[in-house]
Amino acid sequence: MANREHKVDHLDQPFYSPPVLPPVEPPDAAARRCVADPYVLCCRAFRVLTIVVIAVGVVALVLWLVSLPKALKAYVDAAELTRFDLGNDGKQQQLRYNLTVAVSIRNPNRDQAVLYRRLEAVALYGGERFGYVDFPRTRQGRKSTMVIRPSFHGQGVLAGASAFGRDKEEGFFNLNVKLHLRVRLKVIFVNSVEYRPDVDCYIRVPDPSNATAVAQGFTATRCHVDDFL
Ligand SMILES: *[C@@H]1O[C@H](CO)[C@@H](O)[C@H](O)[C@H]1NC(C)=O
Ligand SMILES: *[C@@H]1O[C@H](CO)[C@@H](O)[C@H](O)[C@H]1NC(C)=O
Repeated sequence: MANREHKVDHLDQPFYSPPVLPPVEPPDAAARRCVADPYVLCCRAFRVLTIVVIAVGVVALVLWLVSLPKALKAYVDAAELTRFDLGNDGKQQQLRYNLTVAVSIRNPNRDQAVLYRRLEAVALYGGERFGYVDFPRTRQGRKSTMVIRPSFHGQGVLAGASAFGRDKEEGFFNLNVKLHLRVRLKVIFVNSVEYRPDVDCYIRVPDPSNATAVAQGFTATRCHVDDFL
């Protein structure tokens, strides 16, 4: 009992203990230790680098999402067919042709210029290729339209000209002009990977030897263009 009472007495009295202070280090000494320890330095540099890399990655992702490139748009605005006839040259069917088309290509993108590394135009009839034109490398600015005028003329063998008779009767030839592209997109000074979109235009061109059809003329046609994927 006496023992317990003594404890209670003790608790009643305020108890002062000396304050426990952390060991004080002069600031210049702390700085010296930090600089001197290569592990701490390396650790800190790594942490900063990681944060920077993540921040740059996030910014790049946001920019990329905001500026996903829209597909080019293409139209055949005009087509001039001055010759398109089939002659029998012994056993083979020779197609003599002279076709010029005006194709306008629109770059709808606000941020990307288009660098054409390859731009070739091919003309086909009934799925058979008869003409080919290669254009030099070129650059198309942002939000702009350029017009190319491939001109196909000459003669060549046409193996299966099954559609010719029917088309001539109708007064219009169903031709296909394709553009094979190899492009890069340029944002400020960064070039994208290479894309190879195809442009596919199906046009109905009046037979030059049919006055009625020529009078009806050619109707501007929109082409199918592959996405930048
Ligand atoms: C093709 O037709 C155009 C007119 O559209 C003409 O100027 C040109 O001389 C022709 N070319 C050939 C090789 O016949
Ligand atoms: C000329 O074209 C018209 C259509 O514009 C067609 O109806 C007609 O049959 C064609 N004429 C000939 C001789 O092929």
